[in-house]
Amino acid sequence: MLVEIIQKQHSDLHELFARHQEALLQGLFDVAGTWLEHFHVCQTAHIQLEENYLLPEFAKIERRTKWDASLYQKEHEKITQLFGNITQDLEWLAEQELDESQKRRNIIALLDKEKTLKGLLEHHEEREEEGMLIDLNEQLEENQLKELKLDINLTWAEVIASVKETA
Ligand SMILES: [Fe+2]
Ligand SMILES: [Fe+2]
Repeated sequence: MLVEIIQKQHSDLHELFARHQEALLQGLFDVAGTWLEHFHVCQTAHIQLEENYLLPEFAKIERRTKWDASLYQKEHEKITQLFGNITQDLEWLAEQELDESQKRRNIIALLDKEKTLKGLLEHHEEREEEGMLIDLNEQLEENQLKELKLDINLTWAEVIASVKETA
């Protein structure tokens, strides 16, 4: 099922973000930055896969839900923008000379911001898994689905491997 393939990517992404947050919580800004960069590489590839392979097909078929292709795309833009803010904040934080209390308070502020991103991602992924992916799975031809799944899986395997090599 197409939904399972994308669900797996979503869960790989959650894992990368969780590792970033674990390091952030400990004040290990360099490590937190590395995991955030890994997340960024994979999240960008994931969005590209959806926009190149899935959204163009989704725009052609009948929808069961009110969420159309442009909504998913707008959410991708919002996710990318929020992510950019978080990266900037972390870079800023890593450069500051702070005492322990200030450091902890800044970490809390950044985690709060990240909660907004996580919330947006969760809702977006839920919409994909319950809307777009089910519709695609039901309406595309067997052959087309097979080809899509193969391409998506191959690309994802490469992306994840590239991140693991440097982890
Ligand atoms: Fe998406
Ligand atoms: Fe997705």
